[in-house]
Amino acid sequence: MANKRILSGVQPSGRIHLGNYLGAIKQHIELQRDHEAFLFIADLHALTTIRDPKLMKELTLELTKAYLAFGLDPKKTVFFKQSDISEHSELCWIFDCITTMPFLERAHAWKDAKAKGKKQETVGLFNYPILQAADILLYSPDLVPVGKDQKQHIEMTRDIAVSFNNTYGETFKLPEEYIKKEVEVVPGTDGQKMSKSYGNTIDIFATEKELKKQIMTIVTDSTALEKPKDAKTCNVYKIYKLLASPDETAELKSKYEAGGFGYGDAKKLLLEKILTYFAEARVKYQELKHDEKQIHQILEDGASKAKKIAGAKLEEVKNKLGLNLRDNKR
Ligand code: ADP
Ligand code: TRP
Repeated sequence: MANKRILSGVQPSGRIHLGNYLGAIKQHIELQRDHEAFLFIADLHALTTIRDPKLMKELTLELTKAYLAFGLDPKKTVFFKQSDISEHSELCWIFDCITTMPFLERAHAWKDAKAKGKKQETVGLFNYPILQAADILLYSPDLVPVGKDQKQHIEMTRDIAVSFNNTYGETFKLPEEYIKKEVEVVPGTDGQKMSKSYGNTIDIFATEKELKKQIMTIVTDSTALEKPKDAKTCNVYKIYKLLASPDETAELKSKYEAGGFGYGDAKKLLLEKILTYFAEARVKYQELKHDEKQIHQILEDGASKAKKIAGAKLEEVKNKLGLNLRDNKR
């Protein structure tokens, strides 16, 4: 049987943090080994937050380099930039015409944005899940590996696919989300979900000095240095556990329990762990800085492969909709 197909995207809307890597990108890289993989930079989605063209280019390049530094193999995986494939926007409009406003109003991300009042309530932000449905359904993936915050978007994608299939006949395969339980919500420095919008991130490719600064801001309680501490409730421990081996984790836990070990010591250990865990990726990332030509080439090659699949699917859709006059199947 052919390998299952995966597809996922990440927005170039900020620096790459531990939550992005552990919650999503790590699975993308692992799954490419025995799956047919489609991974893309969701730059059209990032337009909902990024209005500075220079920054958009910078963040797109950074995310591309990060994926390559983490081990994405562009020969195996179709790796591309969303805006290079116009079919995403075209299918988005088609879905707009079969989706209702009340359906979109149920989206947690939209409700959240409205409640917080920090993001401008643009039509693009409201429509975000529909573009995501188009991203996914164009490529007929079996699995969409993401963090837990994206679960509802995949559910909405299935609803949109069912609604299209019911109206126009079987066209779209229903995808499943792939969410790894242990890392479904990686905590940030303040203990809530790590997210660029909360300013609580630990950025993987930051300088050592910046990394140290971010780690030092991790919120801990005020238990005195000499007292025993509860590892399970400590944010430093929770993050360390996601990177360390079971033995290393057990060792840290007994240090907490023994007392005489402060949160500052734990933070130092975490910094060392992050630096060793990402040592290879951090070196590779720096090397790629000098090789932008290669990066452009990789994304262009990826786009031409993606275009073939997306183009064929969109043609099928247009036939179903009666948009192709020369098609006489209906
Ligand atoms: P952010 O919340 O920082 O804006 P994104 O929305 O760009 O992050 O997320 C990109 C991918 O990383 C998504 O699949 C998302 O589910 C995953 N992700 C982001 N933050 C976390 C986290 N703290 N824990 C688990 N997964 C996460
Ligand atoms: N919404 C996703 C996020 O914020 C990014 C994304 C866009 C995506 N299109 C996608 C993820 C398609 C999976 C599949 O992280």
